Amino acid sequence: MTAHPTVRARWQARTRAEQASAHTMELLAARFEALVPERAGVATALRRTAADERRHQGLCAEVVTRLGGDAEAGGPLPGLPPAEGEARGALMEHVVFLLCAGEAIAAAMLRVAAGAATAPGVTELLRGIAADEARHAALGWVALDAALDGLSAEARREAAPRLSRQVLRAVVAARAVGAAGPDGAAWGLLEGARAVEVAKQAVEAAVIPELVARGLWAPPGAAP
Ligand SMILES: [Fe+2]
Ligand SMILES: [Fe+2]
Repeated sequence: MTAHPTVRARWQARTRAEQASAHTMELLAARFEALVPERAGVATALRRTAADERRHQGLCAEVVTRLGGDAEAGGPLPGLPPAEGEARGALMEHVVFLLCAGEAIAAAMLRVAAGAATAPGVTELLRGIAADEARHAALGWVALDAALDGLSAEARREAAPRLSRQVLRAVVAARAVGAAGPDGAAWGLLEGARAVEVAKQAVEAAVIPELVARGLWAPPGAAP
């Protein structure tokens, strides 16, 4: 099937992003196991998340092959994202950036992209992945609550601005989505500007209210 080279490159990038996500989830599961050993069920769920990401990688690679591209993901794998706190504090930041915000944003972007796709099978594929990413976002709140458990009111207050900054970082990360090319929408791709718009909406609707409910929303510039 023919499509603009941009479409193929973006699906290759999607494949690599899923591969990277699988790796990051494994790292997060190990970190969680080490720091919150009393909640082994959450670490197990994080490992299942990594398995989902590997499945997504395979599904995206099939699209790359359909587009005549090289589906080999390859490339260096990322470590855990930057954090300001230490130990359990950093773990909570990772959970917010990767799962609570990152997965909520991914799910929203995939749902919007699925709605506009017309290439055969792409809408169904993206809806399926979006449903998984939404589950991963929900797991994020379970993981965050497990990591928060037993933390003093003061430690929570201290963590709040760092967690809030991770939400803002997740929105900024959506800017990395580049141009989609002339037939990008048909192939389930969002333009960069639209991606940021969708990311902002997702965070306002589904992430900030959850942090507010936990007394953890303290964005820069807000009164203490
Ligand atoms: Fe995924
Ligand atoms: Fe995910």
